[in-house]
Amino acid sequence: MKIRIATYLAIVAVALIILITVLKEPGTTLEMVYRTAGLFAFLFLFLVILSSEYMPQMKKIFGMKFIDVHHNLARIGIFLMLVHPFAFALRVQSLSVFVPKFYPLMDFFILAGRPALYMVLLAATIAMYRKKMIKRWKTTHYSMYPAFLLIFTHSWLIGTDLQSGILQILWPIMILIVFGIFVHKHIIKR
Ligand code: HEM
Ligand code: HEM
Repeated sequence: MKIRIATYLAIVAVALIILITVLKEPGTTLEMVYRTAGLFAFLFLFLVILSSEYMPQMKKIFGMKFIDVHHNLARIGIFLMLVHPFAFALRVQSLSVFVPKFYPLMDFFILAGRPALYMVLLAATIAMYRKKMIKRWKTTHYSMYPAFLLIFTHSWLIGTDLQSGILQILWPIMILIVFGIFVHKHIIKR
């Protein structure tokens, strides 16, 4: 019970921090939509990855099996992750924002959300059909880690709300936790 309350409180606290940060730097409605959607998409992708580290505890915390928690969080994360660039495309009236750019290297990192979008969509789709289609689906699922790193780089370099304030502390904490999960699952446990 304590762990459940603590988890919900932590999520609500981070959500409030994000909302307050966005509201402190007001913009047009579309700008607010794509900034808020991007920030919450990042939070939800983080929670999806975090859930994979605490599979047995999911029932206790959310009252559901791991896969249901993972799936529900992924649905919300992916929805927000799509709202974000579509709102931006509407703002600039161009679909070219969906085209990845690989060089110069700095542009690649700044716009790294573009390839990351396709990586997450592809890996999530393969995971949904994991029983039918692909034997080695898990290997493709590991691309979620580099995708998350690309999203971190993209948001860190381009995000209005990541240029100062508390998100500059929260974002590195989240990427470090994800790095820790990867090390725990693939280096320590092996
Ligand atoms: C936003 C999308 C998603 C992200 C970011 C994500 C991320 C992850 C990560 C990082 C892991 C741990 C992998 C490892 O290192 O072993 C994992 C595990 C898993 N994911 Fe996802 N996932 C997503 C969507 C999905 C979807 C849509 C499904 C299928 C319904 C799924 C099914 C699974 C399963 C079954 C595992 C456990 C694998 C095991 O047995 O260790 N994931 N996910
Ligand atoms: C085609 C793909 C993408 C495009 C065109 C795009 C575009 C942008 C733009 C223009 C910004 C700067 C917004 C601003 O602060 O003014 C931004 C920031 C951001 N993006 Fe993306 N992005 C894409 C993919 C992604 C993905 C997949 C994520 C996943 C979560 C993501 C998360 C973020 C975050 C967290 C920020 C920081 C927002 C802020 O500081 O308010 N982006 N993106």
